[in-house]
Amino acid sequence: MSKLLIEGGYKLKGKVNISGFKNAAVAIIPASILAGDLCNIENLPNIEDVHVLKRILKELGAKVDFHEEKKVMQVNTANVKECFVSYELAKELRASYYLLGASLGRFKKAKVAFPGGCNIGSRPIDQHIKGFEALGAKVTIEHGIIHAEAEELIGAEIYLDVVSVGATINIMMAACMAKGKTIIENAAKEPHIVDVANFLNAMGADIRGAGTDVIKIKGVEKMKGCTYSVIPDQIEAGTFMLMAAATGGDVIIDNVIPKHLDPITAKLREMGLQVEEYGESLRVVGKDQLKNVNIKTLVYPGFPTDLQQPMSAILTQAKGTSIVTETIYEGRFKHVSELKRMGAKVKVEGNVAVFEGVDRLSGAKVSATDLRAGAALVIAGLMAQGITEVDNVHYIDRGYELIEKKLLNLGAKIKRSE
Ligand code: EPU
Repeated sequence: MSKLLIEGGYKLKGKVNISGFKNAAVAIIPASILAGDLCNIENLPNIEDVHVLKRILKELGAKVDFHEEKKVMQVNTANVKECFVSYELAKELRASYYLLGASLGRFKKAKVAFPGGCNIGSRPIDQHIKGFEALGAKVTIEHGIIHAEAEELIGAEIYLDVVSVGATINIMMAACMAKGKTIIENAAKEPHIVDVANFLNAMGADIRGAGTDVIKIKGVEKMKGCTYSVIPDQIEAGTFMLMAAATGGDVIIDNVIPKHLDPITAKLREMGLQVEEYGESLRVVGKDQLKNVNIKTLVYPGFPTDLQQPMSAILTQAKGTSIVTETIYEGRFKHVSELKRMGAKVKVEGNVAVFEGVDRLSGAKVSATDLRAGAALVIAGLMAQGITEVDNVHYIDRGYELIEKKLLNLGAKIKRSE
């Protein structure tokens, strides 16, 4: 089991390069099944979730090479038969549910065990199933395995009851080769929805409207291989912006799409920080004392739930009272008890956490309970006095590429102990 040891109190300075977007990559890799051909997927992050998907696709009969240095995956799905993804593999990550949409789309059949992923709430998949059923699939659940099957898939109008990233992407994948037109209403608008739609279009699909709340998909007969480059990781970029802010540093965050980071930029400016935007980079210049702010997580373009935990780590030291309202996941305050070990003053009631800023956190032994909780604890460690020891680092490795290396380059005192 790895641990991260962090000595707090050093201002981060320099430039950090942001990797490819995890949440796009984990959809794009399964989506390559639709091609039945060779896809070159570029700018993939070298993270655990990508390695798990590589293992799953290999099990399914795909030929997969991942050049970690070049960040390119060559995946040929010509020999994949219909998907059966066992519990042992599906439980490894949330994105295993994308194998349902991809396999259903190509083979009109899929069998995938319930997905795993971070324990941050109940995370139902009823909207995915509703979408598959609307396209004509029969979906049954037996012994923890989701079976979806159709004679043929026929385009339909689907109104999502909740705005869901996963359901929007899964339905897009299943509908690519359905007969006729599919319309997804109340679709999610996150940047990775657009990225996955662009990838599907590069493979020959006909999808319009991704990035708005109405997505139209005209079914095509066949899809093909392509070369595609994944967009930069909005959440990793936001995490480094928050790390710069937490330490009063001066950091250039490179290889980003600044527009995707507007909600974080706006909050940091409200906290009194300077954020400069350039074509593909952002500069965050910190301050020793941060102002309190309130945040409420919302679907894109609101403040992303994935940055709520990292943001709340900073609010432990912002002057005054800050209120954090989590509207997406009911279980995303597990980092709070760990922050309290470090001296944070926080009260949680339902989906609201109230932070009273303290002068300085103090380093302690803490445990990551999920991916973004882990990032929050690293931020807390960077701010705290003394040494913070974060265990369960495997959660962090699922979604952040070389986190301690990137932080060391920025002047943090951090090391991994196995
Ligand atoms: N929901 C339903 N029914 C469904 C699907 C979702 O009620 O069928 C609810 C969920 O319970 C949640 C809300 O809708 O309350 C939004 O869930 P969504 O489906 O959008 O989330 P997801 O697809 O499971 C992805 C990311 C998450 C990110 C969310 C929100 C992946 C693999 N995961 O999850 O990323 O928090 O979208 O943006 O893309 C992370 O990276 O740390 C992470 C958890």
